[in-house]
Amino acid sequence: MVCTPNALDFITPLTLSTLSKKSVFSNFFVEETGEWVNHVELGKWADAMIIAPATANSISKMATGRCDNLLIATYLSASCPIFFAPAMDLDMYQHPSTATNINQLIDFGNIELPATSGELASGLVGMGRMCEPEGIFQIVTDYFEFSNSLAGKKILVNAGPTHEKIDPVRFIGNYSSGKMGKAIANTLAERGANVNLVLGPVDTQGLSPKVNVTSVVSAQEMYDACNAIYPSCDAGILAAAVADFTPNEYSNEKLKKGNDNDFVLSMSRTKDVLASLGKSKLDHQVLIGFALETQDELNYAQKKLDNKNLDFIVLNSMNDKGAGFAKDTNKVTIIEKNGKTHYFDTKSKKEVSKDIVNLLQNYL
Ligand code: CTP
Repeated sequence: MVCTPNALDFITPLTLSTLSKKSVFSNFFVEETGEWVNHVELGKWADAMIIAPATANSISKMATGRCDNLLIATYLSASCPIFFAPAMDLDMYQHPSTATNINQLIDFGNIELPATSGELASGLVGMGRMCEPEGIFQIVTDYFEFSNSLAGKKILVNAGPTHEKIDPVRFIGNYSSGKMGKAIANTLAERGANVNLVLGPVDTQGLSPKVNVTSVVSAQEMYDACNAIYPSCDAGILAAAVADFTPNEYSNEKLKKGNDNDFVLSMSRTKDVLASLGKSKLDHQVLIGFALETQDELNYAQKKLDNKNLDFIVLNSMNDKGAGFAKDTNKVTIIEKNGKTHYFDTKSKKEVSKDIVNLLQNYL
């Protein structure tokens, strides 16, 4: 066990070692003996490293490599999977620098143990509470149980919105952030799959470096990229919010408003990416779609499942609190082609991605 100098203001090494019956290191030297603590050996010895709580300070040092204590030295030397559990006060957690640092750690291939909402040390209530120990235990044990469970499987995921260009300065788009599809791609990669993510025009922040990304802008590009990749895949999970219509004409010059009070844009239907994959799908291939509905949800989702030849469909209702675009949580219902329906509670998109991938694994 390694703790930072600041952690010693909260708890003594004696308490930690008495309760855990393990050695506790906090300095580069053992004071009594003057012996050097070999952080390289510690980092290489471990099968996993769990940094909990990971304060805003430690997270920023991990992101930049500022190595001024034994914990960060050990972290930089470790070659095992590294898990970190952000824990800090509400405003610190919401600060853009914290979000950037957490994304940087994920980009490095570290695994986030997501913070939850609840009572914080300051007495405020909100996001920033450390993932509960039971949650940490679950995520770490799942990681090792599932880490190679999708090895050798090639999986297509699409995510994000599409932008349909009108002129050099305007487009038609939607509010999709791509967060759900990115979470799915990360979960698949954590389980050893070879993941190809076709991503609409959103940033790649928070994506595991193990995910191969093809960036696209329009519905037609999304269609072409997915149709090129899917034939060699074992499964496809299509989470993108693809535009249903695209302008018939693109103006090379910026359209001027002139004296008109009305503007009529002529548009035509885009190709349905998911339906096209459903048509070409081979027996061994699995295909999963999403449905975003505002009314008569189960009925409409069931129709999409049948019409697009899917194995299962993930339904988001815009009527559910905690579900929808750009949120970090989602509430889904999954309908399988055999008629089985699974209702889930509101969860982080990461947790939802695991529910989806767990079900996919039954099909593969
Ligand atoms: N989809 C697609 N290509 C399109 C439109 C939708 O691949 N041109 C996919 C989405 O990625 C999603 C599923 O089809 O997996 C359902 O999308 P949704 O927007 O809920 O429904 P639509 O099929 O577009 O039907 P409607 O707009 O009538 O609800």
